[in-house]
Amino acid sequence: MTFEKRTITCGEVREQHVEQDVVINGWVHSRRDYGGVIFLDMRDRYGVLQVVIEQDLTPELSKQIDPIRNEWVIWIKGKVRLRENPNPRIPTGLVEVLASEIGVINEALVTPFEIVDDLTANEELRLQHRFLDLRRPSLQRNFLVRNKVYQVTHSFFECHGFVELETPILTKSTPEGARDFLVPSRLNKGQFYALPQSPQLFKQLLMVSGFDKYMQIVKCFRDEDLRSDRQLEFTQVDVEMSFIEQEDILQLTEQYIAQIWKQVNDVEIPLPFKRMSFADALNTYGSDKPDLRFEMPLSDTSEWASTCGFTLFADAVAAKHVVKALVIRKSTFSRKHLDELTEHAKKFGAKGLPYLKIQDGEVGGSFAKTLTDDAKAALVKTFELNETDLVLFSTGEWERACIILGALRTEIAKRTGIMETVEGTYSFHWVLDFPLLEYSDEDERYVARHHPFTSPKVDDIPLLTTNPAQARAVAHDLVINGYEAAGGSMRIHDSGVQQRMFDLLGMTPETARSKFGFLLDALQYGAPPHGGIAFGLDRIVMLLVGTENIRDVIAFPKTTSGLSLMDKCPSEVSEKQLDELGIAVKKTQ
Ligand code: AMO
Repeated sequence: MTFEKRTITCGEVREQHVEQDVVINGWVHSRRDYGGVIFLDMRDRYGVLQVVIEQDLTPELSKQIDPIRNEWVIWIKGKVRLRENPNPRIPTGLVEVLASEIGVINEALVTPFEIVDDLTANEELRLQHRFLDLRRPSLQRNFLVRNKVYQVTHSFFECHGFVELETPILTKSTPEGARDFLVPSRLNKGQFYALPQSPQLFKQLLMVSGFDKYMQIVKCFRDEDLRSDRQLEFTQVDVEMSFIEQEDILQLTEQYIAQIWKQVNDVEIPLPFKRMSFADALNTYGSDKPDLRFEMPLSDTSEWASTCGFTLFADAVAAKHVVKALVIRKSTFSRKHLDELTEHAKKFGAKGLPYLKIQDGEVGGSFAKTLTDDAKAALVKTFELNETDLVLFSTGEWERACIILGALRTEIAKRTGIMETVEGTYSFHWVLDFPLLEYSDEDERYVARHHPFTSPKVDDIPLLTTNPAQARAVAHDLVINGYEAAGGSMRIHDSGVQQRMFDLLGMTPETARSKFGFLLDALQYGAPPHGGIAFGLDRIVMLLVGTENIRDVIAFPKTTSGLSLMDKCPSEVSEKQLDELGIAVKKTQ
């Protein structure tokens, strides 16, 4: 089909084009008929432009456009003129095109939902027709931001001497971390590749090969439960450097983040970023990725709790557990709200939610009756409690007790409007000194908190033998507005220490060799000291465009059940395909 090729895009037309003859191509965004005058809003990637068809001037054109509906693809020739009624809401709002010729390039079915930004259509329907959803200007803007992030990323790392290297997508399945996605091998029946959860081992091997500074914008795959900031396949900006210390990684990459915010959002971020230990982050904010745009700190009330008169607390402290408290000033929470907060706390492992509230000048609340007068007075004094102030408590093992109140801190910030007041602002900080290991009750062994290649702090190496749980890692997470935007570490570059780490993780030397033999070998051939970091690119774009939904920044995302509603995957495959792979599918009941 022939068409008149555009001489300008819809979004570009401005006052300087008045009196010029132009041709535009695009989609019919909307049409309004006013008897003798028809207005067409034409849309392309660059914007929306008003076109006018005047019956008096072009009677045949008015007839010709009669069947044309929204989302048809057409070309229009005409002259640019100033609008009688300018529209200040769109960049082309001062001008319009008076049409002299129109041609249909392609018709369109009636779309299942309107292509507008203030849409009411549910997400499922939009995901089924993602190619239409992606026509929405606000969604397109997200991908233009995403594109800008790619460009800034490449130019920043190029300027600093990094080499972009691709690493394999078909890799070896290794234990640790999330669940692998497996790919059966036709050539080697019964054997499987795994899609990479990250290029971690490859980037370390590239350091052993001497590349010195590596970066890659890379897809990673993790078979884990999805959340609003998690997808099965996501993109990392992956970085590794040799002959450096942790400080070098932090200093360089915070400049990278500052550059993104400057170039994409025109926001100056003060450097250096704040730094906080894992222990402080948990103690004060109840999270290893706290949102520091607002305060609302937690307190440790274990000492007070041990003698306050409430047996549950005294028993907890006697069992070496802690009692943490969160004060909410001028609370307006009703009984019903407290019940809802209790349910929320339970999702994070709380058994209940003890609380105290100042009412009519008295300390009331769920366990006020059990408290001694001295304990009440001490609490009021310590927290400077006033009328209607509320104190929520959590007890238990330290990390769990902190996490419960941390989750309530965020929930309360949402419910009380604090989150709205900080919208559009940013807080950036590093969380450091993570524990190297954590004990997994499920596996009855230690597991690596970051990954098994993370270096312990030199001073803590003796703890690997005496008290592994206390050993800290040379690891770093970048937290932006409560999101873990990046994670990384210095690596073990000594094969002996690496072997020791595998021992601690409960791997026999044979297992370690069969899974990671290539790494252990490489570490014996002159491995430089090295370390790195990986940024969650999708999360960074989410923060830049201000969405809480990761699907808004991924062109073709999966639902929380891991489905692609558009192409309907995952799907069954034919018997022939399975036979070729030597695979039989177990029928689930
Ligand atoms: P980590 O596992 O912390 O580190 O991942 C790095 C960053 O990737 C992002 N991220 C995700 N984004 C969306 N969906 C997911 N399912 C998802 N999982 C992780 C987060 C996270 O901070 N190899 C190490 C990095 C290193 O040590 O250099 C790694 O992958 O923003």
